[in-house]
Formats: sequence, C-alpha cells, structure tokens
Amino acid sequence: MIGVGDMVLLEPLSENSFIQNLKNRFDHDEIYTYIGTVVISINPYQSLPIYTADKVEEYRNRNFYELNPHIYALADEAYRSLRDQDKDQCILITGESGAGKTEASKLVMSYVAAVCGKGQEVNKVKEQLLQSNPVLEAFGNAKTVRNDNSSRFGKYMDIEFDFKGDPLGGVISNYLLEKSRVVKQPRGERNFHIFYQLLSGASDDLLKRLKLERDVSKYNYLSLDSAVVSDLDDGANFRIIMDAMKTVCFMDNEVQSVLELVAAVMKLGNIEFKSESRVNGFDESRVEDNNDLKEICELLGIEQIVLERAFSSRTLEAKQEKVSTTLNVAQAQTKQSKKVMGVLDIYGFEIFENNSFEQFIINYCNEKLQQIFIDLTLHEEQEEYIREGIEWKNIEYFNNAVICDLIENNNKGILAMLDDECLRPGTVTDETFLDKLNTVCAGHHHFESRHCTNSQFLTDHTLPHNCFRIQHYAGKVLYCVEGFVDKNNDLLYRDLSQAMYKARHPLIKLLFPEGDPSKMNLKRPPTAGFQFRASVGTLMKNLQTKNPNYIRCIKPNDKKAARIFTETLVRHQVRYLGLMENVRVRRAGYAFRQLYKPCLERYKMLCQQTWPHWRGPARYNGVEMLLNSLQVPKEEFCYGCSKIFIRNPKTLFALEKKRRECLEVLAAVIQKIYRGWKQRKHFLLMKKSQVVVAAWYRRYNEQHNELTTSHFFLQSRKILRELKHQKQCIEAATTISAYWHGTKVRREYRKYFRASAGKKIYDFTVKRTIQKYFLDLKKKIPSMSPIDKTWPPQPYQFLEGTHKELGRIFHLWRCKKYRDQFTEQKKAIYEEKLDASTIFKDKKALYPGSVSQPFKGDYLEINQNPKYSKLKGLLEEKVILADVVHKINRANGKGTARLFLLTKKHFVLADLKSVQIKATVPLPDLASVAVSSQSDGFFALKIKEGSASAAKGDFLLSSERLIEIITKLLRAGTHTAERSEINVDISDEFVVHFKQDKVCVKFIQGSSKNGNSAACKRKNNRLLEVSVPSS
Ligand SMILES: Nc1ncnc2c1ncn2[C@@H]1O[C@H](COP(=O)(O)OP(=O)(O)O)[C@@H](O)[C@H]1O
Ligand SMILES: [Mg+2]
Repeated sequence: MIGVGDMVLLEPLSENSFIQNLKNRFDHDEIYTYIGTVVISINPYQSLPIYTADKVEEYRNRNFYELNPHIYALADEAYRSLRDQDKDQCILITGESGAGKTEASKLVMSYVAAVCGKGQEVNKVKEQLLQSNPVLEAFGNAKTVRNDNSSRFGKYMDIEFDFKGDPLGGVISNYLLEKSRVVKQPRGERNFHIFYQLLSGASDDLLKRLKLERDVSKYNYLSLDSAVVSDLDDGANFRIIMDAMKTVCFMDNEVQSVLELVAAVMKLGNIEFKSESRVNGFDESRVEDNNDLKEICELLGIEQIVLERAFSSRTLEAKQEKVSTTLNVAQAQTKQSKKVMGVLDIYGFEIFENNSFEQFIINYCNEKLQQIFIDLTLHEEQEEYIREGIEWKNIEYFNNAVICDLIENNNKGILAMLDDECLRPGTVTDETFLDKLNTVCAGHHHFESRHCTNSQFLTDHTLPHNCFRIQHYAGKVLYCVEGFVDKNNDLLYRDLSQAMYKARHPLIKLLFPEGDPSKMNLKRPPTAGFQFRASVGTLMKNLQTKNPNYIRCIKPNDKKAARIFTETLVRHQVRYLGLMENVRVRRAGYAFRQLYKPCLERYKMLCQQTWPHWRGPARYNGVEMLLNSLQVPKEEFCYGCSKIFIRNPKTLFALEKKRRECLEVLAAVIQKIYRGWKQRKHFLLMKKSQVVVAAWYRRYNEQHNELTTSHFFLQSRKILRELKHQKQCIEAATTISAYWHGTKVRREYRKYFRASAGKKIYDFTVKRTIQKYFLDLKKKIPSMSPIDKTWPPQPYQFLEGTHKELGRIFHLWRCKKYRDQFTEQKKAIYEEKLDASTIFKDKKALYPGSVSQPFKGDYLEINQNPKYSKLKGLLEEKVILADVVHKINRANGKGTARLFLLTKKHFVLADLKSVQIKATVPLPDLASVAVSSQSDGFFALKIKEGSASAAKGDFLLSSERLIEIITKLLRAGTHTAERSEINVDISDEFVVHFKQDKVCVKFIQGSSKNGNSAACKRKNNRLLEVSVPSS
C-alpha cells in the first residue's frame, strides 16, 4: 500500500504529514484515503481503471478495511448495514465545485445497483435510477469555470429498498436550480447542456418541427465563446438523453412537449424590445420583430396578442429579470416498511469573482452540511463518550454553528433581514438591505462590511461599498448585494403567468398553475430565501435520522488537470473541512459502539453461555461474558452505560469473521438435521414396501415349492414381475439405509423419531408372524390321503382367510396328486366302483360291505379251468363276470346254484355241474333290476315284455356279490349302445314275473338265528318273503 491508507494510523500526525500522505498516494493514483470510516476522495481528473466490474466483485461483501481504500468499500458498508441491520443510510458527499461530488454519487449508485438483487423488475428499477442522472444533468448541469459538468442544482436521492435489499424505486428532490443561467452566463461558461445538445443532436426533421436552426450563434441565450467544450459530445449526449428519458418512462408526446418548451425558451431570448413614446409621456415597449414571437406562440399554442400584451406591460423588468428560486422541494416521504439509502450531491462551496444571492444560498447550504458533519462526527461523538461515562479528554475543533446562526437566525439572521426588507412597505432597495445588515449584524465576528459599526473595515479597499463579506468555514466570501431583494422576492408577474396558463400546450399549463384565474392567490408567495431555509431544515432533519457515511471530496488543482497536486489548495480544504480534528477524535475514540442488546443478539452464538439465550442477570453481563470467553484484550473495548465501545475496527472484524464461520456451522447443523429427517422418512417408506415385498416373496416361495398348479404358475409370474420391481426398491432402500445409518445425527436425534417405532415394530412382528406361520404349517402339514379331513388348527386370528384358503388349495392339490398315480386299469376299477356307489350308496345296506372288496369279475377262473372250456366255445365274447349265484325257486323259495356269466352282450345262466346253459339273455332284453334296500343278496332280473327272452320269465337270483354283479350288468347293458339304461328299482317289495304268474317278493327284518344270510320262504302263491337279519 502506498503511504497510509487510514489516516488514523498515520505516525506522526501533523498537518504536513497528513498532506504529504495525501500527495504521496495521489501521485500513485491512489485517490481514496480513509479517516476511520470517512472517505477522502481527490479528483483525479482522469479516468482510472478502478471502477470495473471486477473491482465491484472484489469489494463486494468484504470488510471495510480489508482492501485498499475505495469508494466501493463505503458503498458496500452502507448497503450491507442497510440490508442486514435495517438501518437507513445516507451518503453525504461534500466538497468544492469540481471536487468530484457528482461523480462520486454516480459511483455509489452504480455500485449499489451492481450488488443488489437481480431480476427483471429489479433491473428495471435500477435502470431507471441510473438513467435519471443523464436526464437531470442535461437540464441542470452546465459548464462553469470550475467544472465542465457543474451541477447547477442540489440533488438528494432516496433509494428505497425492500427487506431483501432489492431496490423498489427512488425519490429525487431538487434544490435551487440556478435559473438565472438560462438568460445569462458568466464569461467562459455555458447555458444548460440541453440547449446545445438539442441543436447539435436533433435530426433536421425534428429541428424543423421545433422551428429551430442548428446554428448556435442564432440564439442570444447561448453563449458563443464556449459553446463547444472539448471532451463533450453534445450530439451523442442528446441521443443518450432521449434514450434515458424513455427508460425513466417519459411518453413520446411528453418528450416532444419538453423539447418544444426548450425551443420556445431559446427563441424567447431572441425577442427584442423597442420603446415607443406615448401620448401620456410614458415610454411603452413593443416587440420589435415578431416572427420569433409568432413561432413561440405556435409552439406553445398561445394567442400572439395575449403574449405580446403580457410582455409589454412589464417589459423593462422582464428584459433583465433573472428568475431564481428553490425548485420543488418534494421531500422524500419515507415509509416505515422500506429501508432507505439517501445520496446527497449538492452544489459545492463556491467563491466567484462576483458572488450574488445564488452563491450566498449555496454556501449557506454547505455551511449546514459542515454543521451536520461536525454534529455527528465531532460533537456528538464526544458527547456520547461523556454520556456513556467513558473517560474522555476533550478535543478542540471549530464549530461553525455561529456562522449558521449568522445566516439563519430567526430574528437577526441575514435571511430574516432580507425577508424583512422585502416585506417592508416603502422603498426597498439592495442598499437599504445592506444598511440593515450593517446595523444588525455588525457585531458578529464572521460578518464584515465597509459601513458596519466595526471601524476596522472602514479603510479596507478589498471590500467595495455595495458588498458584505462572510467568513465561512471554508473561507471568506464577498457578496455583492445587487439583486438580493429581487431574487429573494422571486415574483413572476401575474399577467405573465396568466398568459402562460392560457396556452394550449399541456406542459406549459401545468407549469404555471398560479396563472389559473379561478385560483388567483393574492397572498404573497414565500420568499426564495425562506423557502430555501425551510427545505434545508427539512433535509437536515431527514439526514439526522439516518446513519451518515461521508465522502469528502478534495480538488487537487484549479486547472481541471490530471496529476497536479497544488499543496496550498489542498491544505486549505483539509483545514476548513476539519479533517485533522476528525482524525484526532477518531484516534482518541472508539471505532465502533453498539447497544448491549443488539450486540448480544448479533454475537451470542460465539459463546456457549450466551447461546442460544443469555439467561444471566443483565445484557451487560452477557456481553462481558462473551468478550471474556473470546479473550478479546481488555484495552480493545470499554463498557459504557448502555453501549459497548470497541476501539479497533480489527477487533470488530474479527468478531464478524467468527460470527460468519459460526453461522456456517449452524447452517450445516440445520441442513444435517433436515437431510437426516428427510432421508429417514424416505427410508421408512422404502422399508415398509420392503416388508410387503418380502411377505409376497416368501409367500410366493412357499407356494412355489409346494404347489405347481397352473393357477399358481400364472400367479407366480405376476409376483415375479412385481418382485423384480420391488428388488430394485429394496436395493435403493438398502443404499439409503446405509447412508442414513451412517449419519451421526440419526443416532443423536433418534429419540425424536420414536413415534414411528411402533409402526416399525408392528410391521416387523407381522412379518415374523407370517414367516413363523408358514414354517409351522410346513411341519404340521397333514397326510397326502385325500380322505384325510384334518387341517391344523388356525393359529392366528388375522390369518383366518389365508389359513382356510390354504387348506382348500392343499386338499385340491393332494387329490390331484392322488389321481395322477392311477393307471388306466386301476382307473377302470375305480370307475366301476364309482358306478356302484352311484347306484347303491345309501340306498342298499349291502353296499358299504362291498366297497373294500375288489371287483374281481371272473371268480371261476373260467379261462384256466378246463371244466369250463365247453362254455368258452359257446361264448365267443370275453367273459366280464363269472360267478356262482343262486336261482330262487318260486315254489319253495330255496335257491339252486347256477353259473352266472356276463359278457358284453348277454348274461348266461348255466348248470353248475353239467355246465349246460340254461338261459341266455341278450342284455337289450333286460328291462330292469330290482333289489331290496337291505343287506340281502336277492335280486330280480326283469325281462322286457314282448322280447324274445320274455317267455322264460324274470329271474330271481341271489348272490353275495350282488353289488358287483349288478354294477357290471348295468355297465355292460349301457355299453350296448342301442338301448337306454337299465333301471334299478330299490324297494323292499317288488313283483317278479315268473313264467305264468306274478309273485311279490317282500323283504322283512328277521332275527339272525339262521346266521347272517337272509332266508326266503314261500308264504303263498303270490308272495315270497325274505327275512333279512338285522345287522
Ligand atoms: N473519480 C473520478 N475519476 C475521473 N474523473 C473524475 C472523477 N471525479 C471527478 N472527475 C472529473 O472531474 C469533473 C468534475 O466532477 P464533478 O463530480 O462534476 O464535480 P462536482 O460535482 O463536485 O462539482 C468530472 O466531470 C470528471 O471529469
Ligand atoms: Mg456536481
């Protein structure tokens, strides 16, 4: 760093070393230097590469003292305390004319615009704030001898921000435009830029519409000698301004109106007046060449005669009038919810060859600004130390309050005197005003005049008779009283404003509301001085409510030249700006102070005892605890009554740095907890699905192992699909769970999550239960016998449905298994058994005994036994059944043994001994079979009436194997396709047709004395009775 960046650290401190340091830095293009938080800026008069976007980034969010001194550091500090600490800010830029105030204010605004929020709306607001500058400067700036772009009005801009620090808009207040410049400019100076810009930048077409010529020399109001300024491209600037007006929302027709007005003003200067003698002896003035007047009237839409009359009735005054007054002093009405940053760029202290009312007013304003600086940095600071009970040695400084008083005192102040004169009846001139000053202010130490009672100035020839001199804080200024009264009165003659009000031009009408005859106000308007004093008063009050940031601009030379450092000039400015005193107070004092409460709030996270809340007795103790635990050296701070004072900015920055780090840690903790919570939720969800999947999977597995029916095969494919999907879910869940389990937070904060443990336990239990159920079931699975009716008892109520369904499925399955073992042969046997069952089951008591006996069919081994070979020859067909039966004799009911053979087509009865065939009956001739319902073996084969076999009559037979015989008989009978089924009558009384007569066979319950077999007895001709032993 070149020299010392902060004058507070300068050793040894003297005026010489102070200026030497400034010069040293200036020579190395270091134009900014600090006094604590005050920025000294020396106008470089050349563009330096220190305002780039990179620089903005460099200074963004950095501590004030961290980097080279820069105006950006101050802007950043102000913006951040506005945004983060909710303090309204103001940036006070002071210095002489040409010292770089306006440039500084633009730098501050562009910096704030660069760092604050982005977005379409915000950018629009920013653009408007920035673009308001060129427009204001075109109409309010002019070239003066001091400054090629001197602001001829004061500007205070409140930029409003929302809570996030995004700009919402701005309110611009203007103070005292130097209107006299429109009609007359000192030598070497120009009129306001807009006139020159319009003439050189407008298109031919536009000029024609405005009835203007491009030649500057055609217009009396535009000074010719300095119409062209090097480095100023009026033409290009005109286009910039037109664009800027669009940006700040001027409508096209409004821009047109404004330009028409500018043209009219320019033409106004060309109107010449001549005096004509009138009969009454008075001179009357007339407009000489009325072409200009005609064009003005066309531009503004005023009747020519009206304007002419308005001019001529007051001609003389109008010609020399310099109109000057405070402009609209619309004070920024700041609302509570907004945060505000005010930027004050007001004309600097001015000493010209000839100083008039304007300079007086301007210098008064600067005097007030110096006052506020003294108040806030020197006076208030020292007062505060005393108030807070901090040991303090007073530092002397010059307080310019006396000078302010000289000007603005309500009774004896110069402005009050001037108002008195203006309102006083009788002849009032500038001289009577000076006389008054001479009597009233004579004794004041800062007032000098040739005629004042203080004889010391009687012979002072530097002090002309029509002047007075004020010793301003920045130097002595000689004011010529000429024009003071007129300028203060600032009367626009009523006929003029009424003429203007009659114009059809909307803007003109708007500008002269006082010309409205219906609202004519006979009261005198307040004087210019009064208005100005009031508006300065409001401004000062406004500034005092805000946190001030100072930029003190210094002009290095009078030549507007780069790299020249005129020491005497700088020394003078350093002195009157009170910069040395500023350094001394700073050095002795504390860089930073804050009430205990906000201090504790801001840094409480740095100490265990104060985080998150200080429970101790008082905030003071909290801060003490904090500073002690941080081991801040004792000499670095001091406890006031209500505030903590910190001596060095470094200490504060160290605190800020620690706080920032701590905030990061806190943010990480919050993130950690949140992420843990989020992942955990997700995990639990996954876990839940995993349980479902697992359950499905197990079920599928069990079923797959034990059941292979097609239904389950289909089912399993569906499950497999689901499983594939669920498997992916499980994998994801596993990853998440690994991550989750790993986090420390999880462990630490598990207790907060207990609420959902119940669910988890429940799910787990269900899963286990189901698993156990299946395993148990596997152990207890009943035998494979299809007739086994047992099924393990249902172990869990909630599995009721499943359990039953499983039982059903199991049974179906084992039946199928059982069936599958059957061979064709066996199947046939069972079919036969099945037929037997359909015929006899529950109908005949003999049936149950037959179930377990296999149907052998051939009981006589007819093929092997040679005895029957004869029979074999007789029967070509295969014998289905061969057995011995008893043929019941109708005469006595006794049975005779007979061979009974059954083939596919016939049944045959043969003699047992001789093997001689007694009867052969084709099966189709068999009409029905009759049996009893009891356990006897009697059966009647009834022959169809009218068939070939009918002659022999029905057969009443008896056999132990009745069930088999009849079943086979019926099966064979039904197989012969041409006939319908043979009926089986099961009844305990049926009729048998013997050869001639019918006999009824009746079955009764008998005793079992004859053994187990039933006995048949003839009762009479028509009745045979069979007694069946009861079993
Ligand atoms: N920081 C700067 N860098 C380069 N030139 C500057 C700077 N500040 C001021 N100037 C030059 O000085 C001139 C006068 O500055 P300005 O801000 O208009 O002064 P003031 O408003 O104090 O009267 C500007 O037109 C510009 O040429
Ligand atoms: Mg300026």
